[in-house]
Amino acid sequence: MEPFAGAILIRDKSTLVANMVVPDLGCSLYFGSLSHRLAGSCPHSGGPKGQPERLVKERTSEVEAANRAKSQFLATMSHEIRTPLNGVIGMTDLALDTELNPEQREYLDMIKLSGDSLLAVINDILDFSKIEAGKIDLELADFNLRDCLESALKTVALRADEKQLELLCEVAPEVPETIEGDSNRLRQTFLNLLSNAIKFTETGEVSLRAGVENEEGDSLTLHFSVADTGIGIPAERQKAIFDPFTQADASTTRKYGGTGLGLTICSRLADAMGGRMWLESEVGQGSQFTSR
Ligand SMILES: Nc1ncnc2c1ncn2[C@@H]1O[C@H](COP(=O)(O)OP(=O)(O)OP(=O)(O)O)[C@@H](O)[C@H]1O
Ligand SMILES: [Mg+2]
Repeated sequence: MEPFAGAILIRDKSTLVANMVVPDLGCSLYFGSLSHRLAGSCPHSGGPKGQPERLVKERTSEVEAANRAKSQFLATMSHEIRTPLNGVIGMTDLALDTELNPEQREYLDMIKLSGDSLLAVINDILDFSKIEAGKIDLELADFNLRDCLESALKTVALRADEKQLELLCEVAPEVPETIEGDSNRLRQTFLNLLSNAIKFTETGEVSLRAGVENEEGDSLTLHFSVADTGIGIPAERQKAIFDPFTQADASTTRKYGGTGLGLTICSRLADAMGGRMWLESEVGQGSQFTSR
C-alpha cells in the first residue's frame, strides 16, 4: 500500500478557498505594502534601476531570518521551561502519593492541574515553533488505525461523560486495519479536534468518522472528520480560525480558555502530511472539521 497521505477532505468550496487564501494573503499583503513603500521612495532616492528588486530581496531575507530566529527562540524557551516544569509535576505526583490532610491534598491537586495545563500550552508552543521553523519530522511506520482512533477517544471519554455528551466513532468497513504514517501526529490531530468539539458543545454528541475518499490502483486516500452539535463558528470568523493564537470570539476566551494554537497545529500537520483541513460550521448548529 502507498504511504498514507493524511490528506484532508474538502466538502465546502468556500472553506477551501478561505483555507488556501489565508496563508497566501499574509504573504501578498506583506509584499504589497513593501513594494508600495519602495515604489514611493524610489523617485526621491534616485537609485539605479533594479534597486527596488534588490531591496525587496534583502528585506525578504531579513524578515525570513528574523522569523527563523523567533521560531528558534520560542522552541528553545519552551524546551527550557518544560524541563523544570516536568520536575514540578513529577514531584507533585510523588507528594500526592504520601499521607496528606484534605487541605494539603486540595492544594497539591491544584498545583498538578495548573502544571498539566501549563505543560499543554508549552507543548503546543513547542510544536508550533517547530512547524514554523520547518523542523517537523513525520515518522513513517505501519500502525493500526483503529487503535489510534480508540486511544484518542479514550483520552477524551471522561470529559465527554462529565458533560453528558454522546461520543461516537464510525469507521467505514473498507478502511484498512493497518496504514503507514505518523500515528502520534495523527492521534494528536484527533485529540485536538475532539477536545475542541467537547469544549464547545454543551448538549448532544461528538462524532469521529473515518472513511475512504478514493482508491486509485494501490493508493488510498482516507478522510477523517470530527463533528459536534455545539456553539458553531460564525461564517466571518471561519477564515481566520486556523491562524495561530486566533479564537472565534475573544470574549469567550475566559469561559473556554485555550491559546488558539490547536487548530493551527492540526492544519499545519495535515499540510505536512500532504493533505488539507477545513471546516463547515453554523452558529448554534455545530461544527465539522474534516481532513483528508
Ligand atoms: N468544535 C468547535 N466548535 C466551536 N468553535 C470552535 C470549535 N473548534 C474550534 N473552535 C473555535 O476556534 C478557536 C481556535 O481553536 P484552537 O483549537 O486553535 O484554539 P483553542 O481551543 O482556543 O486553544 P488551544 O487549542 O490552543 O488550547 C477556538 O477558540 C474556538 O473559538
Ligand atoms: Mg483547541
